[in-house]
Amino acid sequence: MRRWLAAVSITMVSVLGLAACGGDGGGQTAQTPAAEGGGKQQVEVFSWWTGPGEADGLQAMKKIFEEKNPNYTFFDAAVAGGSGDKAKALLQSKLQASTPPDTFQGHAGAELQGYIKAGNLEDLTPLYDELKLKDVFPEQLVEQISVDGKIYSVPVNIHRSNVLWFNPAVLKEAGVAGAPKTIEEFVAALEKVKAKGKIPLSIGSEWTVTHLLESVLLGTLGADAYNALFKPGADWNSPQVTTALQSFAKIMEYAGDPQDDWQPAAKQVADGEAAFNIMGDWAYGYFHNPPEGGLGKTSKTDFDWAPSPGTEGTYLWLSDSFTLPKGAKNREGATAWLKVAASKEGQDAFNPKKGSIPARKDADQSLYTDYLADALKDWSSNKLAGSIQHGVAVNQPWLAAINEAVGLFIGTKDVKALQQALADAATANAQ
Ligand code: GAL
Repeated sequence: MRRWLAAVSITMVSVLGLAACGGDGGGQTAQTPAAEGGGKQQVEVFSWWTGPGEADGLQAMKKIFEEKNPNYTFFDAAVAGGSGDKAKALLQSKLQASTPPDTFQGHAGAELQGYIKAGNLEDLTPLYDELKLKDVFPEQLVEQISVDGKIYSVPVNIHRSNVLWFNPAVLKEAGVAGAPKTIEEFVAALEKVKAKGKIPLSIGSEWTVTHLLESVLLGTLGADAYNALFKPGADWNSPQVTTALQSFAKIMEYAGDPQDDWQPAAKQVADGEAAFNIMGDWAYGYFHNPPEGGLGKTSKTDFDWAPSPGTEGTYLWLSDSFTLPKGAKNREGATAWLKVAASKEGQDAFNPKKGSIPARKDADQSLYTDYLADALKDWSSNKLAGSIQHGVAVNQPWLAAINEAVGLFIGTKDVKALQQALADAATANAQ
């Protein structure tokens, strides 16, 4: 796995000329965090939250961090690119060179387990004991970030992947009565929108197509059969998976021109150019936040939401968490960051802006209104399924194989080849 990741990181880093943002996400060239003139120590926080909507949550937590820690400054080492494809490649090369950031964002679940097993992370159990964190995070979530009873990250939120965002006016104009509840209804609605000359379904860069695929798999198979796909020996060649992939291929026929990332694709819905977009609820932050960071749109008028077709009653979840890498230059500063990320105050500042609900069970519920109130309600009552694209269900090499299969499919549209490639990816990577 390490070898594979190293190869990817070298290619990505050299081809893309990646550089950390530095400062406030202003896209400057990377600098080495060090003590500043005033004697303040920098804390290098690595994420991929640079874009509109995403950066707002991080800024809110940064503010609290700097207020509470006058001796530290926050060094924003975020690398642009939704879902962290580019950031994770650069991170891998930093880890391999033993020059880790002071703390980095990693997804709870299989992705984090990869870092733990590679020996990249410090055990945070003492911090959990000190802050009594086991009492405030859901037990199932703590399991996803633990190995052999030791806990390795601080989850800051819960995101939902299976959200269908739609433009109510575009649906009305096309004669679509409301959010489609099944895959069949979805295809019928896409057809009606197409007939009106609008973009039926907006998509972004390649990872957003894998993101769409996970919702279609869940919507076709149901939560139990979907979750079973990630167990050793799972049958990815089953007729049910074939049906799901045929639906996926059908839905993709209605996709608009691929946009650069998830934001411009989501914007097509908010602007009334497209009817639907299936994207995680970070899109809510983007739609809803005021214009400095978001689009300042009005919910239910400019955009509306529903579980993606066929997935009502299931929360296709993921969680962003922060870590303490071994060899962090500013270990104490990183721990101070983790304390803010773990705190009720930090989570309640971050999540309403990020479009996520807090990982802590004791957050101030009154802050979570509109879409986020629905999310909180569903999180407490729905079945759970783990996201593929965002690190829960599959580890990095498995995700890379899935992304490759989906990338090829976009060109060939060959469902049989896609299914075979997905089956091969599972055989090679399921543990
Ligand atoms: C996910 C991440 C979210 C959001 C999204 C789009 O992987 O967990 O917090 O940033 O990517 O970039």
